[in-house]
Amino acid sequence: MDNNTITNPFVVGKYVSEDYFCDRIEETAFLKKQVDNGRNTAIIAPRRLGKTGLIQHFFAQSDIEKRYHTFFIDIYSTNSLSEFVFLLGKEIYKELKPLRTQWTEKFFGTIKSLRPGFKLDAATGEPVFDIGLGSIEQPQTTIDEIFTYLESADKPCIVAIDEFQQIANYAEKNVEALLRTKIQQCKQTLFIFSGSRRHMMSQMFNSPSKPFYQSAITTDLKPLDKTVYTDFASRLFKEYGKSISAELIEKVYDDYEGVTWYMQMIINELFILVEKGQHCGIELYPTALKNVIQTQESSYKDTLFNISAKQKPVLFAIAKEGEAVNMTSIKFLKENNLGSSSSVQAALKGLLEKDIITRTEKGYRLYDYFFAEWLRWNY
Ligand SMILES: Nc1ncnc2c1ncn2[C@@H]1O[C@H](COP(=O)(O)OP(=O)(O)OP(=O)(O)O)[C@@H](O)[C@H]1O
Ligand SMILES: [Mg+2]
Repeated sequence: MDNNTITNPFVVGKYVSEDYFCDRIEETAFLKKQVDNGRNTAIIAPRRLGKTGLIQHFFAQSDIEKRYHTFFIDIYSTNSLSEFVFLLGKEIYKELKPLRTQWTEKFFGTIKSLRPGFKLDAATGEPVFDIGLGSIEQPQTTIDEIFTYLESADKPCIVAIDEFQQIANYAEKNVEALLRTKIQQCKQTLFIFSGSRRHMMSQMFNSPSKPFYQSAITTDLKPLDKTVYTDFASRLFKEYGKSISAELIEKVYDDYEGVTWYMQMIINELFILVEKGQHCGIELYPTALKNVIQTQESSYKDTLFNISAKQKPVLFAIAKEGEAVNMTSIKFLKENNLGSSSSVQAALKGLLEKDIITRTEKGYRLYDYFFAEWLRWNY
């Protein structure tokens, strides 16, 4: 895709091409090395740092595209093996349908349990994957068939499973062990597991009592390098006939601790605020922040609606502090009218489980920097 078709080069939420993707050269080479050596990889990183982007960037490398069939599913919102199987089946079908090779035509022949979902579109006569979650009656059979199918492919396959720790929460008890067995039996299908729950991911892959113990090389994803990101953003401004001060990019980097999504959201907005030929200086930062937060406001209201009356004061106190330390000290409780330390502890537990807050080295902060800012403005 060339510059003419992308009006704002600070792309958020999808992968376009390497032109709009910053760095990750070493990480991409690392993934390639693992794949070349037939190893599965587990990537662990906090939310919004760029796990999904990295995997998409890796899949877009020309030699990977040529040599492998690649599939990507995000299982964050799934709660059962049936949902997992549904997503995987759908993704494989979506990726392969346009190829129309001998192998791809065998999809419903091999994955027999999904055949009832195979229909022809009345208007175009094209096959469609029209299967509801309810039609996956025997997920174990379907998953067997899916793996048999992948193993019979004309090229090796790479399956990336994002937010993989979610399988530990599935309704069925033995999913980890079941998947581990299937994955181990694969000869030409490789896996990339990624997840943001450090503790859970680490337990799954590094604890001897767990089925996935030592079944993947685990790696951390770090924030992009500050200088590299600053050069990246400056270059793109320049390519579009605009300029931005390095000082401003660095300030944005520091404010969001290098977490990619937040930086990209702000820089994307700053890019809009200046015309071609103009310079973007630090004075535009507050406007950009306000505009970005406005676009997220309805989701913040939803989130707040789902937080209990007991959790709210605790949440507000953390937002106010930025990073809250010693939350159960008498001083903190008093200053913020928080009641007893045991009730604060219960609220923290609930907020952590909902992924609203996260632990830091010293205490707690809100996971979402923009949400924290919005709360500070409004409460
Ligand atoms: N190296 C990069 N250069 C430019 N933009 C990037 C880069 N990595 C990620 N992004 C962008 O930053 C945003 C967050 O990245 P991504 O969705 O990959 O993070 P994630 O860790 O998968 O987040 P989540 O935990 O929400 O799934 C996306 O909009 C993505 O397009
Ligand atoms: Mg992701």
